[in-house]
Amino acid sequence: MASGGGTNLQAVLDACADGRIPARVVGVISSKPGVYALERAQRAGVPIVVISPKDFADQTAHDEAVTKAIEGFGGQAVVLAGYLSILGPKLVHRYPIVNIHPALIPSFCGKGYYGRRVHEAVLEYGVKVSGATVHFVDEGTDTGPIIMQKCVPVLDDDTPETLAVRVLEVEHEILPASVALLCEGRLRVEGRRVRILPKT
Ligand code: GRF
Repeated sequence: MASGGGTNLQAVLDACADGRIPARVVGVISSKPGVYALERAQRAGVPIVVISPKDFADQTAHDEAVTKAIEGFGGQAVVLAGYLSILGPKLVHRYPIVNIHPALIPSFCGKGYYGRRVHEAVLEYGVKVSGATVHFVDEGTDTGPIIMQKCVPVLDDDTPETLAVRVLEVEHEILPASVALLCEGRLRVEGRRVRILPKT
């Protein structure tokens, strides 16, 4: 599921194409029409559908439409790759859903922390490292069990833009790697922790 440029989607598509992820993307759902993520999906021959939250009376109706789309695609797991809308509790418990966040959760995350705002907050606070997090989606915002994280340095002359580029690079590493582990059945959630099982 995506809402923007889709570089994380592209990283997952590429990893499926070259076998790093033992699965395929069966469909792409965007919350907005005309975003480049949809172009990327079409170029990869992946069916697309736009499901805009504003077209639905409430969260339940929206989630029903999303569920129908996923069923239609035959999806078995969901990847939020720069998806900026809310998914309700029923959806969250129906599929394993992973999300990529451009900071080291539990820092700089939660309501309102997405895109440029995250990197602005990192620079405002003056932390020396940032990075990206892949986590399971639960009923909260950016609160599910953490699957993988990777750090990047924050440099004295960083702007939100230069930091975002550095973080995006590690996003494109850890999202496909996490999706591969999910598809290989090597992620075991134990309370708040996610254990990565050895390759069998
Ligand atoms: C990325 O920074 C991601 O962490 C955040 O939204 C941005 C999406 O970028 N969720 P893209 O659409 O994958 O290029």
